[in-house]
Amino acid sequence: MEAHGNREGIREALPPVAANPGWVGCRCVVCGREYDTVYAGFVCADCGIDGILDAAYERAGDTAVRLKVEGGDIARGLWRFSSLLPVAPAAIHPAWAVGGTAPLPAPRLARHLGLHSLVIKDDTSLPSASLKDRAAAVAMARAHQLGLDHLACASTGNAAASLAVLASRGGFRSTIFVPAAAPRGKLAQLLLHGAHVIRVDGTYDQAFELSLVAIAKNNWYSRNCGHNPLLVEGKKTAALELAWDLTRGFTSNEDLPDVVLVPVGDGCIVSSTAKAFIELHALGLINRVPRVIGVQAAGASPLAAAWARCGGGQATMSGPAIRDAITPVVPDTIADSISVGVPRNRVKAWRYVAATGGAFIATPDAAIIRTIVDLASRAGVFAEPSGAAGMAGALAAREQGLIGDRDRVAVLVTGHGLKDPGAALGACAMPEPVPPLG
Ligand SMILES: Cc1ncc(COP(=O)(O)O)c(C=O)c1O
Ligand SMILES: [Zn+2]
Repeated sequence: MEAHGNREGIREALPPVAANPGWVGCRCVVCGREYDTVYAGFVCADCGIDGILDAAYERAGDTAVRLKVEGGDIARGLWRFSSLLPVAPAAIHPAWAVGGTAPLPAPRLARHLGLHSLVIKDDTSLPSASLKDRAAAVAMARAHQLGLDHLACASTGNAAASLAVLASRGGFRSTIFVPAAAPRGKLAQLLLHGAHVIRVDGTYDQAFELSLVAIAKNNWYSRNCGHNPLLVEGKKTAALELAWDLTRGFTSNEDLPDVVLVPVGDGCIVSSTAKAFIELHALGLINRVPRVIGVQAAGASPLAAAWARCGGGQATMSGPAIRDAITPVVPDTIADSISVGVPRNRVKAWRYVAATGGAFIATPDAAIIRTIVDLASRAGVFAEPSGAAGMAGALAAREQGLIGDRDRVAVLVTGHGLKDPGAALGACAMPEPVPPLG
């Protein structure tokens, strides 16, 4: 029975989606094997699940021009950057329109943390209240292009919420595998938006495994960023927007950040942030690449630990060497969205972060909680623990000399605090009630 209105009617109203002719295919991050755009798999046929693919683009001249001048309907939100995305809808429909969050200067918080300057890319204001809407929009568009109407993912909560929200807007079906411990705010989003929710009595890593089996069996479209290479491209748009805004439309590099801090779970957001800056630099639209620092919670920090173990040689390591250097951990952190023991995009993340001259670091839960309070009280941004983790890494990054005295810092805040108010309330003293008048 159809419980959520006439889905067919909504889907029929969606504009067609076309592939970007500049998207030429994908390359395996482990062995380098190349795949064209019609390859139906998500991962490398030789390397299996570790062989995450990476999308590549050509027609550099066209792309640079289009990124500078792209206008009209398609310019709304993240689709403004469709020259660097694999697909784009022919017109903007409310189901597709996400992105376009403004960069927020945070001078009070910068002073408090001893930073020269600080800009926050506040993606808590997207429709499902996390950056994940950017990946979900691309997933929806790609599924629509392929004629599929059912998407699925495993998620600690936010990827699922983004899928549930956008699937509901577009009349698609969604099935979601979440760890049973997902916070109630996130579960509420899934259930209310009409997703079919499967609560897995286990960790996110176990939910991910189960989702892969179900997706393959049912021919659903996978909204698992941890293996679908096209979704990371959607996440790139946060950094593309940040660069566009801070360079006033690629006309001045003066305010381009020196360092960008990003929370890391599976490593998709951090890969895509670094990739965005590298692509803009290759196109001649920015004159330098900010150093991208991936921040993990100390209780779930396999990338940061391996990075530290490998000393100074990180930038020259091969795909297989990177894969083998990263030892899985059993995650333990209050930051549920980045509570990941085996980051699926670890090789891609490592490669791209190294290419920016950045690093991976870890931050303890106590620093994350303090940062939630600082972000809210000194910058007006309410973040969930994972959403605040990038910011929480600023202190450790300063201590380790990764942020200098004159560096301009930007931080991605990736998820809204109302998704997990329990974590935030733990950091506040609840006022005692006073008697009412009379
Ligand atoms: C709020 C938030 N921040 C950061 C992350 C980490 O992103 P990634 O898994 O791409 O590293 C997630 C992932 O779920 C998230 O929901
Ligand atoms: Zn491979």
